[in-house]
Amino acid sequence: MVSLLLVSLLLYILPGISCLSRDERSFGLSYNGGKIMTEPVAVSVIWFGTDWEKSGQEVIRNGISSLSPSRYGFEGSEVPTLGSWWNIIRQYTNISNAPVTDEVDVGAECFYVGSQLNMTMDRMIGIGRSVFNQTSIDGTSGNLTCTRVFEVNDRTIYHIVFSHTVMFDDDQRDLVDLCRGNFAVEVFAGVNVTMAWARAPQKQSDQCSTFFRGDHYLGPPNGDEKIDSLVGYVLGNIAEEVTNQDGRGWKGNDGSDWTVSSYCGSVFEGERGDPPLFMDVERNVSFNAAGLNGYRYILQYVWDQNIKNCAMKPSETCGNNALAFKQPKGHLHVGIIANHTTGLQPYPPNQKCRWKIQYPTAKFISFTINYLSFAVDSNDQLVICQSDSGPAQCSIFQSNDERYKKSFKIKGSKAYVEFTSGELVSFDSRGWELTYSAGLCSGKEDVYDRKGVIGYSPSDGYSYTKGLSCQWILHGKAGTPVALSFSHINISEDFDFLAIYNGTTHQITNFSGIYSSSDLPVLNLTGEIMIEFATQTDKGDGWSANFYMSSPVDQKKKSLLIVIVVVLGGVLIGFSLALFTLALVRSRKDTNRTELDSRVEFDSHSILMRAEVNGEESRIGEGSSSIVYRGISTDGKFIALKSPKHPTFGIKLEEEILLKTSLHPNIISLVGYVEDGIRGRNLVFEFMDRGSLSWNLRERGEALDWERRLEIAVQISSAIQMLHMYLKPRICHRNITSENVLLDENYNAKLGGFGAAKYCTIDEMPSEMGGDIWSFGLLLVELLTGKPVINRNASEFCERFEVVDEALRGQDCLDRRLAIPREECEKMGLTKLGEIAKWCIGRGENGPKIGDVVLGLKQVKLLFCSVPS
Ligand SMILES: *[C@@H]1O[C@H](CO)[C@@H](O)[C@H](O)[C@H]1NC(C)=O
Ligand SMILES: *[C@@H]1O[C@H](CO)[C@@H](O)[C@H](O)[C@H]1NC(C)=O
Ligand SMILES: *[C@@H]1O[C@H](CO)[C@@H](O)[C@H](O)[C@H]1NC(C)=O
Ligand SMILES: *[C@@H]1O[C@H](CO)[C@@H](O)[C@H](O)[C@H]1NC(C)=O
Ligand SMILES: *[C@@H]1O[C@H](CO)[C@@H](O)[C@H](O)[C@H]1NC(C)=O
Ligand SMILES: *[C@@H]1O[C@H](CO)[C@@H](O)[C@H](O)[C@H]1NC(C)=O
Ligand SMILES: *[C@@H]1O[C@H](CO)[C@@H](O)[C@H](O)[C@H]1NC(C)=O
Ligand SMILES: *[C@@H]1O[C@H](CO)[C@@H](O)[C@H](O)[C@H]1NC(C)=O
Ligand SMILES: *[C@@H]1O[C@H](CO)[C@@H](O)[C@H](O)[C@H]1NC(C)=O
Ligand SMILES: *[C@@H]1O[C@H](CO)[C@@H](O)[C@H](O)[C@H]1NC(C)=O
Ligand SMILES: *[C@@H]1O[C@H](CO)[C@@H](O)[C@H](O)[C@H]1NC(C)=O
Repeated sequence: MVSLLLVSLLLYILPGISCLSRDERSFGLSYNGGKIMTEPVAVSVIWFGTDWEKSGQEVIRNGISSLSPSRYGFEGSEVPTLGSWWNIIRQYTNISNAPVTDEVDVGAECFYVGSQLNMTMDRMIGIGRSVFNQTSIDGTSGNLTCTRVFEVNDRTIYHIVFSHTVMFDDDQRDLVDLCRGNFAVEVFAGVNVTMAWARAPQKQSDQCSTFFRGDHYLGPPNGDEKIDSLVGYVLGNIAEEVTNQDGRGWKGNDGSDWTVSSYCGSVFEGERGDPPLFMDVERNVSFNAAGLNGYRYILQYVWDQNIKNCAMKPSETCGNNALAFKQPKGHLHVGIIANHTTGLQPYPPNQKCRWKIQYPTAKFISFTINYLSFAVDSNDQLVICQSDSGPAQCSIFQSNDERYKKSFKIKGSKAYVEFTSGELVSFDSRGWELTYSAGLCSGKEDVYDRKGVIGYSPSDGYSYTKGLSCQWILHGKAGTPVALSFSHINISEDFDFLAIYNGTTHQITNFSGIYSSSDLPVLNLTGEIMIEFATQTDKGDGWSANFYMSSPVDQKKKSLLIVIVVVLGGVLIGFSLALFTLALVRSRKDTNRTELDSRVEFDSHSILMRAEVNGEESRIGEGSSSIVYRGISTDGKFIALKSPKHPTFGIKLEEEILLKTSLHPNIISLVGYVEDGIRGRNLVFEFMDRGSLSWNLRERGEALDWERRLEIAVQISSAIQMLHMYLKPRICHRNITSENVLLDENYNAKLGGFGAAKYCTIDEMPSEMGGDIWSFGLLLVELLTGKPVINRNASEFCERFEVVDEALRGQDCLDRRLAIPREECEKMGLTKLGEIAKWCIGRGENGPKIGDVVLGLKQVKLLFCSVPS
């Protein structure tokens, strides 16, 4: 029997507040010189109250014994385990650099069956004491049974767990964190012992239940929300105690009582964005850490000193620079990715890593960004570059925008992906994940050889790529035999196929499925043959065939023929386009490449091969330095071709800028270019069916309604935001006008006219960006009045200013072709729009930044009656 020295000294009580945001706290924890638990720790559990179920107790015991990394470390797994969570706790050391123990296990246990109690702090201390001599607790009635007599030592944590039947009075609610409980250091028999307690929530809707996210009830991982909530608190308490054995260990470095787990309290409770969870699909439950024996837990996040953030497992860094990927498919990520759609915790700060992707036979590499979560105002970025030849061409990804969740292609066989993170990473920045696959065919391939092998088969064990649409044309002379003998076919029957055409239009046959070697087809054909391979899945490993042409067409003659197809379109206007076609002939011969060659292809279905430009009648616009023509690409789509009037260097910059912005849905997409030896490049753009905004506002019969105009304003502001905020270097457009806003068939607005755009230096930013905002303000006025802004000099400026004021007052100036709004919401929205216009125009360099404007416009959108947000 251990004698008790009843020095009831409550050393301290930790506050249970947990609603400060991290920024309000000083940043991190610091060591106060006290004791931490470096020796193996036993956790003695005192089960208090009624209604304990054996299964629930087992969840808690299992949780405690899963804490040792040696027992359940699960290194390298994407799913955090209790052991990997404990590895974060092991970052905390004592004065001689000894880390917290890596051995935690369940110690002796006691069961106290009492009636429902009005629990007070004294009673809790009483319970702690009583276990050392197995007496009942003063003032309460009940039976205490312990598995064995408790020892008094400083390697044990005495943890009282209250069942949900135990009541706390109001005083205690203020004193202790009702949910997490608390801990104290008590002196028994001359030994400072650590005690802790935690309480199970009483019902699902109890604030202590951790299984609500908003209105959504998550299945408790082990089937009982009371126990599954309680165990999270118990394990969090253990982490606090081992790092603060005498209350002078690791605490908030501003002198506050935050500890390794309470510091992340609000993360646990979902206040700083709901930390995502893993799904156990079989049991239909969520969890964030796995324990031994198949148990699952939702744990308190803890403070990771290395990443200066709350975390569930030690962070993986991407220090392994220049890792090369040589397989045709792969999967890259940073941050911990749960279920490929949600990152669980922030990625580490100060990372700079690069992955090279090289697949020698690839014609293009396609990327799919499955997930991207960077804080909007951070400098963190993911850059994907083509690096086959010449200077790298890159796309930059910087925010969490939904629109980035798509696939795009980079031409060539080499690419690299580079990720950088800054000094501070916000908790919302949870990483990214992408998959890449090497594409082994490129649109159309002409074959003039007498014999050889064609096909699409990645290396062993890899399947083909989704979204392929490739053709091979075997140019046999008319009437001469062409034989095709397949050596392999494994193509998904679901949606993929291989089709054989006589000429390029008449389909003779098609194949899909898996062919055994004895069934492989042999085709005896004549003349020109086209083989088309199209995929929507990646459930097959491809095909290959030997071909033989008794008499192939001469390649040189053929290439001239193709050029004629291009020129045939009509009598080309002027000298410039004549030169342009000559250049085509030349480049065709030199490189055997197609005429309008898109360098970066963003969509597998629009690989542009050739286009016809039909002379003067296809001229659709003219600017000071270029003429725009309409053309048709071989896949039947309209394109716009911007041909410079004079030799110009500017267009190179324009092209470079457009390659960076081309993923933005409200910036005109560049689909390719045509090299014209004399005038430089002719840029090829997507064709915008409805033409320019200015034309739609004035010349077009039907007037754009208010909702469309508002939507256009929102879309163009978002395009400017991309230029001003998300790209590096920042870009100033310098020519935002209604002529340069183009509308597609669904009235989506896209910003074009990048001829004057440039990279803005820090010094230029205030005036140039201010200029863009100012022009955007005028654009808003134009949207409101429907009238052109004739002259942009100072006097006009005043006039416009009055227009806005007038618009605000009486709506007299609003576009008269539209009914004056009756609905209050519409009036209010237009007034606000006018205010934003005025705000943009009025202040010059001290005016709003684009971020403010976007925010303002989004608010207007909310005000508006019928625009869905
Ligand atoms: C730190 O921990 C080590 C290992 O348990 C121990 O030997 C040492 O005395 C501790 N130092 C202090 C100052 O507590
Ligand atoms: C708990 O005890 C306090 C005094 O210690 C008393 O005021 C309170 O009413 C009691 N509550 C219950 C539910 O018994
Ligand atoms: C057991 O604990 C009770 C109260 O906690 C105390 O009054 C009593 O003296 C202790 N008995 C022994 C043998 O230490
Ligand atoms: C304690 O246990 C004994 C024997 O199991 C029982 O007779 C007694 O009623 C119990 N006392 C209380 C207060 O539950
Ligand atoms: C118990 O803790 C107190 C306060 O930190 C300290 O003064 C005392 O020396 C400790 N006693 C033991 C036995 O460690
Ligand atoms: C999974 O659990 C949720 C919440 O308990 C429930 O709404 C949903 O219907 C369950 N799904 C299945 C497939 O059981
Ligand atoms: C990932 O989550 C989705 C939807 O939440 C679910 O359908 C899918 O089965 C999950 N996959 C895995 C591997 O857990
Ligand atoms: C292929 O086309 C040529 C001419 O267009 C025709 O003579 C021949 O019969 C066709 N062959 C098949 C198998 O359709
Ligand atoms: C394949 O051939 C069959 C029969 O000629 C035809 O019905 C089908 O549309 C073809 N499939 C494709 C994908 O061309
Ligand atoms: C195709 O031609 C080869 C050699 O000319 C011949 O052996 C084979 O039988 C022919 N196949 C068919 C299906 O006509
Ligand atoms: C067909 O391709 C798939 C996907 O690569 C592969 O899993 C499967 O084993 C292949 N089947 C045969 C018979 O080669």
